[in-house]
Amino acid sequence: MDPVTRLGVVGCGLMGSGIAEVAARNGIDVRVAEATHHAAEAGRRRITASMDRGVQRGKLSQEQRDQALARLSFTHDLGDMADRQFVIEAVAENRDIKADVIRALDKAVEDPAAILATNTSSIPIVDLAVVTERPAQVVGMHFFNPVPVQQLVELIPALTTSEETVRRTHDLAGRLGKQAIKAPDRSGFVVNALLVPYLLSAVRMVESGAARPDDIDRGMELGCAHPMGPLRLLDLIGLDTASAVAESLYEEFKEPLYAPPALLRRMVAAGHLGRKSGRGFYTYDA
Ligand code: CAA
Repeated sequence: MDPVTRLGVVGCGLMGSGIAEVAARNGIDVRVAEATHHAAEAGRRRITASMDRGVQRGKLSQEQRDQALARLSFTHDLGDMADRQFVIEAVAENRDIKADVIRALDKAVEDPAAILATNTSSIPIVDLAVVTERPAQVVGMHFFNPVPVQQLVELIPALTTSEETVRRTHDLAGRLGKQAIKAPDRSGFVVNALLVPYLLSAVRMVESGAARPDDIDRGMELGCAHPMGPLRLLDLIGLDTASAVAESLYEEFKEPLYAPPALLRRMVAAGHLGRKSGRGFYTYDA
């Protein structure tokens, strides 16, 4: 089994930029694709800024930063993924968009043995595997935010995924410095199936006027030693992403505890998406 040396990452938002950064810092050649030249340049700036913060905090040297940046290339053409051995898609949490990207990658990536991984938080992997000609080489590889910090990767084989694909994905996760757990191909996998109902319960507490965001958050931070309370965490994840994940969970299980509360939907509609838009349950500097 040859280790992956040429990785592709599609999407350079919060998750894609973190995945690309971690891979480049771990010695892997990474090509990042975004929808437009403008978005690709924004992705480059995001990764550069994150590494610069790492240098300031003494996490990596200037030389390591320069070497990692030299391993990254950016494109807005999925055709440039042709020579990749492994591609991770990290585009918006939307079934149609993800299926389109996976289908296009299946055509673009030349090596028929190359693996296509999806960083979906909640969409069944098999639904994405079957749009390709290589369903045995499609797998879920779910990272956590912020990617450079969180140690976990959920590794989700679909019913169609081969053992070899699982082994290579596990190996790649290790080379990215992550620990993999095997998770079932059901909406929410392991972590979001447990986490999302808790986050939604906190939104319902705010919605009903039972408690204020800061009291809820401080309650969980000080009472249960969570690094951040549920509403601060929602702001970090992005309310649009959290709402989309809740929709997928609800669609799969039809359990009321997964249904996104009206307040969450209204905040998404208003563009109050959390940190990334400067406003969610809290407000943030630009
Ligand atoms: N990139 C790189 N490093 C970062 C970072 C980033 N974006 N954000 C924080 N860090 C690092 C800091 O450099 C710092 O490192 P040192 O302690 O070594 O100096 C460390 O993380 C702590 O950062 P801060 O002191 O700035 O802030 P903090 O102590 O409040 O921690 C946090 C911030 C890491 C986000 C922490 O609050 C935390 O772990 N929160 C929980 C996050 C979580 O639950 N994530 C999972 C979300 S669910 C998900 O992602 C899945 C999904 O599908 C929705």
